[in-house]
Amino acid sequence: MKLFKIESIPKPGAIVYSTIVARSPFARDFYREVAEEVCSKIPSGRVLDIGTGPGIVPLEIARKSQNLEIKAIDISPAMVDIASKNAKDSGLSDRVQFQYGSAKRIPYEDESFDLVVSTLSFHHWAKPIECLKEIHRVLNNHGEAWIYDITWDITNAARRQLKIGTDGSYHF
Ligand SMILES: C[S@@+](CC[C@H](N)C(=O)[O-])C[C@H]1O[C@@H](n2cnc3c(N)ncnc32)[C@H](O)[C@@H]1O
Repeated sequence: MKLFKIESIPKPGAIVYSTIVARSPFARDFYREVAEEVCSKIPSGRVLDIGTGPGIVPLEIARKSQNLEIKAIDISPAMVDIASKNAKDSGLSDRVQFQYGSAKRIPYEDESFDLVVSTLSFHHWAKPIECLKEIHRVLNNHGEAWIYDITWDITNAARRQLKIGTDGSYHF
């Protein structure tokens, strides 16, 4: 069987995904925990979220911290539209800038971030090594990258807790 990766999620998938994660208590808790970790690590500075999807993580970070400058990119234009609308609806458009961009060619200058964060996106990246080099490029000397992702190689108990089927499907 030939395996391929879907990088840019098309519009119908983007709408379904955004609706599901907005309603999932598991997703909400996870995003909140990530945002809290970010805000406790860096009280001020520049943060980039890669593969932001509907933008829940950067918007949560913006709610928790007034002193962070937050950028977010996604390779799916549909996701960028959804995230931008979520920012507008939350009154956070001036705090978080969403834009189209790939992890493989990050549209920012060298050493321009203190922290790069990414949730549930890494497994989509077709050229992960190139993407990691790009992340390294945009981080400053003291910068860190926090990449959160899931692995299919987990116990059934963990699968049940995460609500992931044995075929990799989500059951929120
Ligand atoms: C499963 S969603 C995760 C979205 C969000 N981070 C979350 O935790 O809900 C994966 C996202 O990564 C994006 N993506 C995939 N490959 C990418 C790449 N190479 N560069 C930037 N974004 C990418 C997809 O378009 C999609 O929005």
